Amino acid sequence: MIRKAIIPAAGYGTRSLPITKVIPKEMFPVGVKPAIHYVVDEAFRSGVDQILIVVSKRKNLIVDYFDHSLELEAFLERENKQHLLDQYTIPDGEIYYTRQPYAKGLGDAIRIGEKFIGDEPFAVLLPDDIILEKGTPGLKQLIDDYTRFRSSIIGLNKVEPHLLSSYGVVKGTEIEAGTYKLDDIVEKPKQNPPSNLAVLGRYIFTPAIFRHLAKLTPGAGGEIQLTDAIKSLLKSEKCLGKIIAGQRFDIGSNKEYIKLQNLIGNSPASL
Ligand code: G1P
Repeated sequence: MIRKAIIPAAGYGTRSLPITKVIPKEMFPVGVKPAIHYVVDEAFRSGVDQILIVVSKRKNLIVDYFDHSLELEAFLERENKQHLLDQYTIPDGEIYYTRQPYAKGLGDAIRIGEKFIGDEPFAVLLPDDIILEKGTPGLKQLIDDYTRFRSSIIGLNKVEPHLLSSYGVVKGTEIEAGTYKLDDIVEKPKQNPPSNLAVLGRYIFTPAIFRHLAKLTPGAGGEIQLTDAIKSLLKSEKCLGKIIAGQRFDIGSNKEYIKLQNLIGNSPASL
């Protein structure tokens, strides 16, 4: 059972400048909800009951969004607009926050969550990746495999060769349809990617990952890379990858963000 999740949301969102100068990427609207709302819902729908969101100084909007607005609620009640209150829902689960003081990379953001996680397996969801699926939530698909295999497991999807240099890319052996035993992982390979299987921002880790994160020095782009910790983890324990069923949208890519917006149209509630 996976009870806890970390959502790292402290990055600068440089791919989406200039808007990210004032609006965090996680707060980009998808229909009438911000992107991170879908990811938080996915975690709770997958059975997680405590989420730690790692923010930075410029991300107070995220904290405000998941809080009650007493003024707004009083106003809607006074105006007999209770039906709007129902739409204005705050996810029903525990959300905690902590700050990453320096933007040292994804690996560093996860490392900050160690005390919150303690000694149990946990999930990581990257809020840039929105998954549209018709049945089982993306993270739940990984949790179901974790329950069977009891090893760390990374979400994957197949991407076009020219896009592989934007992602972590794995090398693995397929042990059953769509599930791989991982042998290697490379962050944003500039050439010779080991496969066409890219890391999608959903992970289940055993707490051993923290030992590997603690040893890291800056990697690709001068950042502490989660991928480097996974590479090191692979040497000491079995780690799987699983293709997540559903459509993945990387909202850090303007093209995919616009595609998602067009798809959601005016019916965000259907997500
Ligand atoms: C991160 C990870 C990368 C993964 C990607 C998924 O990269 O480092 O391995 O494929 O998320 O969205 P980022 O998008 O933060 O550059």
